[in-house]
Amino acid sequence: MKTIVTGGAGFIGGNFMHFAVNNYPDEEWICLDKLTYAGNLETLEPLEGKKNYRFIKGDIADRTFIFDLFRKEKPDRVINFAAESHVDRSLKDPELFLRTNVLGTVCLMDACREFGIERFHQVSTDEVYGDLPIERTDLFFNEENPIKTSSPYSSSKGSADLFVLAYHRTFGLPVSISRCSNNYGPYHFPEKLIPLVISRALADESIPVYGKGENVRDWLYVEDHARAIDMIFHNGKIAETYNIGGFNEWKNIDIIKVVINTVDRLLGRKEGEDMNLITYVTDRKGHDMRYAIDSTKLQKELGWEPSLQFEEGIEKTVRWYLDNHEWLDNVTSGDYLKYYEKMYSNR
Ligand code: NAD
Ligand code: DAU
Repeated sequence: MKTIVTGGAGFIGGNFMHFAVNNYPDEEWICLDKLTYAGNLETLEPLEGKKNYRFIKGDIADRTFIFDLFRKEKPDRVINFAAESHVDRSLKDPELFLRTNVLGTVCLMDACREFGIERFHQVSTDEVYGDLPIERTDLFFNEENPIKTSSPYSSSKGSADLFVLAYHRTFGLPVSISRCSNNYGPYHFPEKLIPLVISRALADESIPVYGKGENVRDWLYVEDHARAIDMIFHNGKIAETYNIGGFNEWKNIDIIKVVINTVDRLLGRKEGEDMNLITYVTDRKGHDMRYAIDSTKLQKELGWEPSLQFEEGIEKTVRWYLDNHEWLDNVTSGDYLKYYEKMYSNR
């Protein structure tokens, strides 16, 4: 059994690669990644040398490359994590998001049609549902909610989802989709809120809070996302969409305080010592107010449950950054970009 995992050098794809390569030693796992600024091969370093793991550098939107690769490798399955994933960047360069997230997904699915596939799984996001009012805590998004996006990022992910469903209905491609809430955990690029707060608190630098910090996100530990994808990929029904989320909503400002306190405690500083780093800045344009995802379907149909309480997950995450400061230092300095040359130039 051979699976191509696209975007496996990124945050969630990387955590999934660790999970899959270690849990399925008799299956072949190929990471296909373009290594954009968000792709970091140091994340996959612990897998180097394992017989069931390979890395291939390439662009999911490059049709010639993708068709040649599928012709040669004949994968049984594809999981598509590859994407431009940062909302703020999508405000600066929407077209890049269209190219990677929509055209890239279509290109992969065309190769799947041409060469045959058992399953194409699309890793999507809760952001495709748009946002909910803060005060309506009774409302959650389930899989029946329509796509109603806000940013160029979420619009590109929502468009890709529509193409995935169309490729099933029109061409019979065996697809599935998962839509997860905000993830946190090891190997998270420090442009996103939680790793940004950790890295800035460690460096004693200001921590930017958009608007009033009242927007709400629903946070899930990344390994729980990886496990959910594994379950959906193996046992989820074809052409179905599954929400993934831990019913764990937090206002941004509250989560920032929890993270700062955790950093202070683990560093032996007085708790709250770094609160003065919090700096309110201009809000994100079109900023979604609240995400809240109902993952009952996944829990009932496939028996998935989140494994960690949030406080435990945050402590584990901050500890990971403290124990792996080299990974963070290399990201901050840009040294991680040289890793591919170092490891692969003579192969
Ligand atoms: P990330 O930005 O950390 O990683 C994306 C990876 O895709 C990188 O390794 C990058 O090099 C690669 N990539 C980008 N363009 C490519 C291309 N054209 N060809 C091949 N590879 C390319 O993203 P992430 O946070 O790990 O998110 C992974 C997926 O999960 C995305 O599809 C995202 O929409 C979705 N998602 C993310 C979250 C979250 O909280 N981060 C939550 C729900 C869903
Ligand atoms: O919900 C799933 C989505 O979660 C994924 O699809 C995206 O790929 C992922 O990036 C994430 O999107 P968000 O926009 O929610 O994540 P981000 O970490 O960028 O921001 C989280 C919240 O924190 C958001 O309300 C904006 C705010 N924020 C973010 C940054 C980077 C700040 O207040 N300050 C910051 O510096």
